[in-house]
Amino acid sequence: MTDLVRLLETAKDAARLAGAELMNYFIDENLEMRDKSAAGGVSYDLVSDADLSSERIIGQRIRESFPDHELLGEEALGRDVDVDQAEHLWIIDPLDGTNNFAHRLPHFAVSIAYYHRGVAMVGVIFNPATNQWFTATRGGGAFAGEKRVAVAQHTTLSKVIIGCGFYYDRGEMMRRTLAAIEEFFSHQIHGIRRFGTASLDMCMVGCGQFGGFFEYKLSPWDFAAGRLFVEEAGGKTTDALGGELPLRPSSILATNGYLHEAMLVVTKRHHL
Ligand code: IPD
Ligand code: CA
Ligand code: CA
Repeated sequence: MTDLVRLLETAKDAARLAGAELMNYFIDENLEMRDKSAAGGVSYDLVSDADLSSERIIGQRIRESFPDHELLGEEALGRDVDVDQAEHLWIIDPLDGTNNFAHRLPHFAVSIAYYHRGVAMVGVIFNPATNQWFTATRGGGAFAGEKRVAVAQHTTLSKVIIGCGFYYDRGEMMRRTLAAIEEFFSHQIHGIRRFGTASLDMCMVGCGQFGGFFEYKLSPWDFAAGRLFVEEAGGKTTDALGGELPLRPSSILATNGYLHEAMLVVTKRHHL
């Protein structure tokens, strides 16, 4: 078994380098590109450049330390990797929160996870715009910066804020998400938040800011690191039907644990 400390340090180093690259695009080149799309649209090419460059940097850094490990990234890495068979697998979202990034909202992240035979061992989520670090290792706890964190202790929905996300869909899945939100409001929750970066949403569950978070479709790179963060903070993650989270596109429910069953009642009812 590879040393967790070395894995964590590699993930952090890769995230640091990728984060610096993203900030170059965010602060400088992004502004230039925005001028080009004078019609008021967003320059998705630029965002693609940022995504690709970040992913390339992360891949290079991991391969430097672990040349025989497999990599699965959102943009280009590991299209043919067998996630169920891989002994050492890194799962990478080089830029989570692309839409925020494109609109210059400083709420986005690099998300890097290491899995050993399908089990999450290391998770690093880094927002370079705010310099916030969220790290977790299996059995070693979840940390926001240097501080160990834990989920909220609330046991009723009427005490919490819930996070959610919309898949890039303006049809049935969005209607169902909205129906679930409406039902959550009937449980007197304090509020709903949709911040647009799933990995950071999960960090908010782990840090006790959200009682829970749900989304009806995410990809493994969106939740690979965040699910370990939630679990190491004492919470629970499943798909939104209550089944085990697979390493493939899936719905998700991440909670403080105490609210899992109550949230499942709602997320199940509206699941596609
Ligand atoms: C997206 C974000 C967003 C979630 C979407 C994801 P991307 O990832 O995590 O919060 O609602 O479903 O696809 O595309 O910005 O990497
Ligand atoms: Ca993502
Ligand atoms: Ca992404």
